[in-house]
Amino acid sequence: MIFFDEELQQITLTTQHNQLTLGILPSQHLVQLYFGKKIPHGSLHYCLENNKNAPYMADTDSQSGFQLELLPLVYPAFGNPDLRTPAFQFFYQEGQKLSDFCYSKHEIYSGKKNIPGLPSSFASDTEVESIAIYLRDALTKIELIVTISAFENYDVFTQHVCVVNHSESTFTIEKMMSVNLDFLSADFELLTLTGAWGRETQLQREKLHRGTQAIDSKRGASGHGQNPFLALAEPTTTFTKGQVYSLNLVYSGNFIALAEVDMYQQTRVQMGINPFDFSWQVAPQASFYTPEVVLVFAEHGLNEMSQRYHRFYTDCLIKSSYAKRERPILMNNWEATYFNFTREKLVALAEEAQKLGIELFVLDDGWFGQRNSDQTSLGDWYPNEAKLGGSLTALIEAIKSKGLQFGLWVEPEMVSKDSQLFQQHPEWIIAENGRIPQESRHQYVLDLSQREVQEYLIAFMTQLLSENSIDYIKWDMNRNLTDLNSSKLTGIETKELSHRYMLGLYRVLATITQKFPKVLFESCGCGGGRFDPGMLYYTPQIWSSDDTDAMERLAIQAGNSLVYPPVAMGCHISAVPNHQVGRRTSLRTREIVAQQGNFGYELDLIALSSVEKKAIKQQIHDYKQLRKILQLGEQAQLITNDEQNEWAWQKQDDNWVVVSHVYKMVQPNVLAKRLKLTNLAETQLYRLQSTGQLFTGGELMTIGLALPLPNQDYFASRFILEKVKKEER
Ligand code: GLA
Repeated sequence: MIFFDEELQQITLTTQHNQLTLGILPSQHLVQLYFGKKIPHGSLHYCLENNKNAPYMADTDSQSGFQLELLPLVYPAFGNPDLRTPAFQFFYQEGQKLSDFCYSKHEIYSGKKNIPGLPSSFASDTEVESIAIYLRDALTKIELIVTISAFENYDVFTQHVCVVNHSESTFTIEKMMSVNLDFLSADFELLTLTGAWGRETQLQREKLHRGTQAIDSKRGASGHGQNPFLALAEPTTTFTKGQVYSLNLVYSGNFIALAEVDMYQQTRVQMGINPFDFSWQVAPQASFYTPEVVLVFAEHGLNEMSQRYHRFYTDCLIKSSYAKRERPILMNNWEATYFNFTREKLVALAEEAQKLGIELFVLDDGWFGQRNSDQTSLGDWYPNEAKLGGSLTALIEAIKSKGLQFGLWVEPEMVSKDSQLFQQHPEWIIAENGRIPQESRHQYVLDLSQREVQEYLIAFMTQLLSENSIDYIKWDMNRNLTDLNSSKLTGIETKELSHRYMLGLYRVLATITQKFPKVLFESCGCGGGRFDPGMLYYTPQIWSSDDTDAMERLAIQAGNSLVYPPVAMGCHISAVPNHQVGRRTSLRTREIVAQQGNFGYELDLIALSSVEKKAIKQQIHDYKQLRKILQLGEQAQLITNDEQNEWAWQKQDDNWVVVSHVYKMVQPNVLAKRLKLTNLAETQLYRLQSTGQLFTGGELMTIGLALPLPNQDYFASRFILEKVKKEER
């Protein structure tokens, strides 16, 4: 609900449990009065009354006791005595660059509008209400429209900002954040998801300190080491308790998320497009939109936060009809063959896959041009018929005739130096005139800011998907952006390239996914590292890491599923010794870990022993019984006895609770441990499938399940509990 109290000059947005209250000061500055759990309230302006004690920079506008720098401003610009980091900076060619934005009017409406050119959340008019708040600067004729939406049943607020140029001259945006949140305290821990290729989305917790702490990407993609997520949590926050304020940016390019603790120990949090190498020209009467931020406040710890994101993204962000559907079990040939395959090998793999119960066969890199290594042919998307032993269509038919679905790998945003496409269109790559561009993995990035390049991508993907019966596409991106310049942009426009690239990519993805709504798209987080809500909008699943080792995957998957729905994470069983780290883990452990997300196989099935094949057949059979709850059930991460050594998570739906637990290293001579579950109904009875024992939810949450004693490193166990129906008791 959104309500404006004229007398109190307060705008209150509420959801089922949460509240955001903004105030309009007598000076017409817009401030955040309160953000947190829903409370009965009258005027909340008193929240700011104590905040007048610092005498330095006091008396804004010569008013005694009025000090903008001590106020939690909704959208601070540059030009008034608030000297913290501004959210908005611009300049006119003529030199004007200062502003002081104040409230002018607002509109409240049911529903939510799309953000032009950008992915953003959606819901029916009854599920979401929005407010557009207009801020104006008296001199510059620039208008800012801050739009906040309240999703009642999801406990989510979203925000984006639009700037409109009502003047006669063009101005240049230098910085424009999607959100600014000011907190009157610095007593928080900062949570971010960082890492690198092969060890993505590792949760990092650090205490806030004076100065600026930030996570950002300048790589042209959200990146392996930089997820566009940031949270401030009470220092004692765990999975089950503690207050958390979190932000996630619906964007896949350069971003910044920062927390600035000022000299008064206040914290300013911002998130948006990275101002690094960015600017945007806004012509008279034109506008510019920021990407959207998804804000979640959770009162009861990190699981509550995660579950809100999961539910919201499943229902209100992922466009694909697969969002709430069970996903097929796939077999990908990459780690089975790499580039070295023949038609016979592929068909034999597919045959084996089908016998084991796998449902989707994915042909990875190497099927086109002269692509027998990563040194050539990106851009030449013509099937290599000699290698495929005939046409792609014939291969697809051969595989489909075995009763499997068919999927294909592409990397459309790239071109190899050694390719026909590059020979024909050297001007289509991101590069600066006169400077030799960097090749990385022997490839250049296509300049998606160019309309012609976008049209080319749309045309070849349309042809590929119309001429062939393809059920699934893996959309890869195996390098980040360097040489940021374009043959089509000049002067200051060149600083628009990174964002124009994203707008171009989103246009291409929107067009293709709309044209082929039945195709299941998986984007590849490991190439570009783009595991973010922007990509999720178009592709309901994302390959989470090129590191397929079960132990390495524990932290990666815990980090990813802290924010993103577990079913969005591509997770495969691969061979041992593992190709990335050389580790040997049991098939059972690999199964339990890979089944946290979107389950598949990526190993040479033909090379397996008959014992292993039998075990895999059983795995797949069992998985199909549990698929609904494992893929779409509510996930909670569980607190273990030793966070570094043990990982555990629980999934539940209306009928089942499935608990997974993994030890990394075994320890000698320790007591058998117990694992406490969470978020169950106290008096509900649960039957442990393996023994038939009955437990109440209360027992499971306070006494916990007895863990088996591990007899080797990398030891995983699973418990399946059935909810006992009332009539059975
Ligand atoms: C990336 C992907 C892999 C595979 C290769 C193919 O690294 O993450 O899964 O598709 O590209 O080149």
